[in-house]
Amino acid sequence: MMSSVSNQQPDPSHTGKSSRVLVWDILVRLFHWTIVTGFSLEMFVLEEGKWQHRWVGYAILSAILIRILWSFWGTPHARYADWFPTPKKLHTYMAALLKGNEPRYIGHNPAGAVMMIVLVLAMAACGITGWMQGSDRFWGEDWLQEAHKILANGILILAGIHVLGAIVESFRHKENLILSMITGYKRVATGDDIDYASTSDRR
Ligand code: HEM
Ligand code: HEM
Repeated sequence: MMSSVSNQQPDPSHTGKSSRVLVWDILVRLFHWTIVTGFSLEMFVLEEGKWQHRWVGYAILSAILIRILWSFWGTPHARYADWFPTPKKLHTYMAALLKGNEPRYIGHNPAGAVMMIVLVLAMAACGITGWMQGSDRFWGEDWLQEAHKILANGILILAGIHVLGAIVESFRHKENLILSMITGYKRVATGDDIDYASTSDRR
């Protein structure tokens, strides 16, 4: 159960400060802030449908593709095995969350991971519907324009909830998760913290 996967040795990749461990590698961090910047440009800066808008959209799609591949071959915490929210993991986490004693995760927690999957899928669908609007086959289709718009606005709302979740969990576990997504470092696992990547038990 959970206790069997907790309380690991510090990762050898930690810095001189032995209490911290590198969790998010540079690719994960670049991916995250690339899609956040790209999305903000699409929504608030660039003119819709123009070439700049299209190319930023393709950049977002490329970043997503690279991140998907990185989930197979990346560093331990970037991999599916570390963070994929299986029904069992999600159920256990949600039950603990409702009781107010959810454990701290070194990687993504299962509820956060569900939101990330939804965000990435919605972002990919938004990019693809944008691309389809310009193709000969789907040119001028109203439903596509509508889908593109709904997806974009949906992402905006979900991203708001995602950020709120990150802030709440930051307070709950006294660790700035947003800063961690910038520096890559987190506090090493202690007590009941869960760290799948540094154990052989990756259920
Ligand atoms: C994932 C990234 C993308 C986001 C967040 C995004 C977001 C948006 C938004 C918010 C609009 C305005 C919708 C409205 O209010 O009517 C829009 C319009 C548009 N987008 Fe994107 N877009 C993305 C990617 C793309 C791509 C890759 C293309 C094409 C290659 C594209 C082509 C267009 C076009 C042609 C319009 C104008 C549609 C119209 O005439 O109503 N978008 N996009
Ligand atoms: C369109 C907006 C956003 C999208 C689509 C998005 C998507 C994602 C994704 C896919 C991940 C997983 C990263 C990975 O493993 O590669 C993630 C993690 C994270 N995001 Fe975002 N994000 C957005 C905006 C933001 C913003 C504005 C913030 C904070 C200001 C933020 C804070 C975080 C944090 C702290 C994590 C790590 C959570 C953890 O510790 O488990 N995100 N986000």
